[in-house]
Formats: sequence, C-alpha cells, structure tokens
Amino acid sequence: MYEELLQNAAEVRRNACCLYSHFAVGAALLCNDGTVYTGCNVENAAYPLCLCAERNAFGSAVADGKKKGDFKAIAIVGGNENETAASPCFPCGACRQVMAQFCGEDFEVVLTDGTYPLGELLPYSFSL
Ligand code: THU
Repeated sequence: MYEELLQNAAEVRRNACCLYSHFAVGAALLCNDGTVYTGCNVENAAYPLCLCAERNAFGSAVADGKKKGDFKAIAIVGGNENETAASPCFPCGACRQVMAQFCGEDFEVVLTDGTYPLGELLPYSFSL
C-alpha cells in the first residue's frame, strides 16, 4: 500500500538541496481528492533557514488552496544523499506539529518500514 506515494517521495528527493547535511529528504503529500504535492529539503548557508521536505509539501498544497481536513497521507523518504534511503526517516517534531495543524490523528505517515498514524507520532499536540 502507498507504493506509488513512496515512489513520488523518492523521486522528488533527488532534487533535495542538502549542501551542508548531505542528508536528502523527499515528501509526497496525498490529498483526499487524489492530488499529490511533493517537497524536498532546501538548505541554506545560514543553517536555521533550512527547510524540511514535509513542510515544503504542505506549503505547496496550501498555496494551491488545500485546507485543514483535505489531507490523507504523507510519504517520507530520507537518508544520506549518495545512498538509497532504506531506513525509515521519521519526521522531525516541527513537521509533526505542522501536520497536526492541518490533519487529524488518523492522518497516515508512510515510511519505508510501514505506516504510522499521526496521533501515535505526536500525542497531545499543541493547539490554541
Ligand atoms: N529534514 C527534513 O527535510 N525533514 C525532517 O523531518 C527532518 C530533517 C532535513 C532538514 C535538513 O535539511 C536535513 O534533513 C538534515 O537535518
């Protein structure tokens, strides 16, 4: 299941700009209407400006008009840039919080080793 979405994440991962960490990440975000938005990490010489793949995918979706509740799953593929990413790449805490802003606890986080519900990865998320 979600083989194609993982493939989309692996493809966009090739565009990662990871000059400093040499850790390339690709994300493919599936919406309930079937649309897929992709993102890769984009690093900067000013390190705190580095952008995560997952948040770039959400940014593209939101810019295209997608809203809270429109999202079904996100596939994430990450690892050292010169290697095929086989080990699971779990999303960082900041990306989990961004997912929680737009998705429910049943949102599916698809990694190379299986699928995790967001509620399991970020219980008791912050909300106003
Ligand atoms: N990175 C992501 O793209 N997503 C995550 O969830 C964690 C980390 C990126 C940021 C940085 O460019 C590189 O991986 C190493 O931290």
